[in-house]
Amino acid sequence: MATTTALRARNADFWARAAPGWIAHADHHDDWSRPLGAPALDRLSIGPRERVLDAGCGCGGTTADLARAVGAAGYAVGVDLSEEMVAAARRRHPGVEFVAGDLETMKVVRGAPFDAAYSCMALMLPADPVAVLTTVMNSLHPGGRLAATVFREQSTVPWLPAAVLGAAAHVGALPPLPVGDEPGPFALADPARTRKALTAAGFDTIAIEPRDVVLETPDDPDAVTSWLIGIGPAGAAYREAPPEAQAAARSGAARLLSRFRTPGVGYRLPTGIWLITAECA
Ligand SMILES: C[S@@+](CC[C@H](N)C(=O)[O-])C[C@H]1O[C@@H](n2cnc3c(N)ncnc32)[C@H](O)[C@@H]1O
Repeated sequence: MATTTALRARNADFWARAAPGWIAHADHHDDWSRPLGAPALDRLSIGPRERVLDAGCGCGGTTADLARAVGAAGYAVGVDLSEEMVAAARRRHPGVEFVAGDLETMKVVRGAPFDAAYSCMALMLPADPVAVLTTVMNSLHPGGRLAATVFREQSTVPWLPAAVLGAAAHVGALPPLPVGDEPGPFALADPARTRKALTAAGFDTIAIEPRDVVLETPDDPDAVTSWLIGIGPAGAAYREAPPEAQAAARSGAARLLSRFRTPGVGYRLPTGIWLITAECA
């Protein structure tokens, strides 16, 4: 098992290399991936004048939605490890506040205390989930609420391995696959581990509920496969590959994703997530 320091460096390197793919696909990612965060946003039901934090905000689409919800008298801030993604978020959403930094080592987010914290598909990625949750906890008011989503086990997210496997044979080396509890898309698939991390960080009123959502896209195999490859573990290798290898990677992924496609209608990508809610003690 790699050390926390090594895993932290691996995570930082992964997101530095992944950032251009996320930035290139940011607009349709916001649109097509919305169901991944929607249960947490619904649960938080953010209103005017609230102060809210978006932990692992990526290119900032949801932070901008939160900024609209809190209005001029409230405050929304997105935090992300990737400086490039934060720079893109600032370009995409002028006037919205973003902070580049590592939630594992930040201790408290600038602008604290917050009434609420939101996170979509980010809490499973850092080397030490307790450290990230402690930063979030330190940044909330007593009684402040957290709502977050993470993937359930891999079998409930069948499109993710399909995109990686379809592309992998046609591009260069992929980053190391996570072993055991190492950070990665499925590192918080076990709700017992998540509950333990939340408790260790000091949260209470913890609930972890399964949700089945479906990502819907237009019937555009080239756009959908380049999005799914581009934001996934094969994204950096795909970007560095020559055009003919990229085309082969897209058609490899399209073949494995065809079971989710209705020609003339689009893709429906079934996804199992956990909706995690908790309160700051
Ligand atoms: C899968 S993306 C999700 C982005 C966004 N929430 C969304 O739903 O589109 C995960 C994000 O978490 C960020 N991240 C990973 N580890 C982090 C850390 N230790 N501190 C802050 N952000 C982190 C990554 O840079 C990435 O933008």
